[in-house]
Order: sequence, then C-alpha cells, then structure tokens
Amino acid sequence: MGRDHLGILEGGMGVQSQSIHDPVTLARTMDPEDQYGVVTARYYDATYQALGVVGPDVDFYRRLAHDAQGSVLELGCGTGRILLPIAADGHSCVGVDSSSSMLDALRAKTDGNGPALLLGRLQDFDLAGRQFGLIFAAFRVFQHLETVEDQLACLERVKGHLAPGGSFAFDVFNPRLERMSDPEVPERENIRFRDAGDEMIRYEAVTRDPLNQLIEVTFRYERRRNEEVVSNETTCFKMRWFTRFELEHLMARAGFDRVQMYGDFDRSPVVAGCPALIVVAGTSG
Ligand SMILES: C[S@@+](CC[C@H](N)C(=O)[O-])C[C@H]1O[C@@H](n2cnc3c(N)ncnc32)[C@H](O)[C@@H]1O
Repeated sequence: MGRDHLGILEGGMGVQSQSIHDPVTLARTMDPEDQYGVVTARYYDATYQALGVVGPDVDFYRRLAHDAQGSVLELGCGTGRILLPIAADGHSCVGVDSSSSMLDALRAKTDGNGPALLLGRLQDFDLAGRQFGLIFAAFRVFQHLETVEDQLACLERVKGHLAPGGSFAFDVFNPRLERMSDPEVPERENIRFRDAGDEMIRYEAVTRDPLNQLIEVTFRYERRRNEEVVSNETTCFKMRWFTRFELEHLMARAGFDRVQMYGDFDRSPVVAGCPALIVVAGTSG
C-alpha cells in the first residue's frame, strides 16, 4: 500500500462507457446511489491483484478482528477482499456498501453462507441496534466522505454501532503535499491485466482541488483484442485527503477519546513520508 498514491487509488462517483468497435462494453447506466458502479466492480479484484500493492492491510484488519470481542462490521466492504478472509477466520461478519455492483461481486464469491450484507451509506447506515466489537473501513473508504458533515455523520453512526470497548479502524493515504499542490496530472498508463482473454490497460488522470482537499480521479479501462482497441470504459470519483492533526481533531470532535495512529500496516509510527495514516479508535463512554 502507499507505494504510489496516484497509482493505487480506487473508487467510483460515476461511470460512462463507450464502445469503439464492438459491443464488448456493457456498462452505460448505473443506479445513482451506486457510486462505485459496474465498471469498477468488474475490474476491481483483477486490477489490485495486478498492482500488487494491497495485502498487508488484510493481515492488519484480520488481527484487529482476532483481538476484538464480538462481531465485525466493515463499512465499504466492496468485493469482500478483507471481509471474506475475516469471515473465514470464524468471525460473525456484516458488510455495508453503497454499491450494489460491488456487493454482487462479493456475493458471487460465496455459496450463500457469506457475511450478511447491507446496501447502505457510511453516513446513515442503520443495523437496527446491532453492536460490533470491531468496525472498520479499509482501503481509504473514509476518503469518499468529502465533507466534514458527512465524516461526522459517519462517526456518529459508528459510535451507535460499537459495543462497549469496541474499536473503529480505518486507513487513509498520507498526502504527499508536493503532489497535492499540482492541479492536474494528464492521463497516463497505470496498470495492465487480462480479462476474458483480452488485454486490459487502465489509464489514470487526476485533477486536484487543494482548497477543499479533494482529488478527482478518472480511470479509463481500454480493452485490446489481437492488439486492436475494442472498447473503453470510464469511471470517475473524488476523494478527500486528510492530514494527521486534522484526523486527530476530527476523532476528538466526534467523541473518540481512545485514538491510536499508525503510519503503515506493520503498526510503525507516523513519520514524515509514511504511506498511510491508520486510525484505531474507541470511546470510554
Ligand atoms: C476502494 S473500495 C474498498 C473496498 C474494500 N474495503 C477493500 O478494501 O477492498 C471503496 C468501497 O467503498 C464503497 N463506498 C464509497 N463511498 C461509500 C459510502 N458513502 N457509503 C458506503 N460505501 C461507500 C464503494 O462502493 C467501494 O466498494
């Protein structure tokens, strides 16, 4: 994680698809509530496997689940990259995600006995009084909350679902400030992988809004068959970046009085240039 902040972002605020030569491209419409979209869901696992930049986070969250008392809830569980291994460890698990496509991709990996899943948003999910020993939001999900209002709403929901002594953990990227002042990175190749026998190339373009600490990322997935481009599919999303002290203030404001922060998934401290800011927090109340 964190090897290249631009190269390993993922998300989805919209989707457009354009077929060039043949109808391979499928996704044109999406549920407006499905912020991730079918294109991201289709290529998510293959992309991150090819990038090879995620993995240590799985062990990090697995260990937190092992140390927790009670059930586990993942917010923004996506395709189950982390939730499924935790469920396989024997924990009772629930996943929440606002993308029905991502949840469908998760469901397709289970035999019907997988984690309970809820289509819902971090800002207002409601699991009817159920409480959890661990709630987590992995791989920068919290960065999809663009406003302080949404961030506080999410933290309020988390507190309402935490069992006494329970923890909320999440990770965000540690922004490289020299990059964040650059308003635009033109499209460039990001990763190649294979899908249904075709070669896929993902291109990435970034624009930044430093005042609001937002980046907007556009991924274009180009499909090549016999060296000819046969389709393009595009997703676009925004992410909010955070600084260390901003996160400390945010957690305190939301009423979390037990807050630890790490700079990487090996639990090393926050230092200049560390790849991530990882929060593990709880309340004593
Ligand atoms: C980068 S993926 C991470 C998926 C998974 N946690 C992982 O580590 O592989 C982000 C996920 O967050 C979900 N998401 C984004 N904004 C959300 C929101 N406001 N409420 C719920 N889920 C959201 C997306 O649909 C997507 O599945």
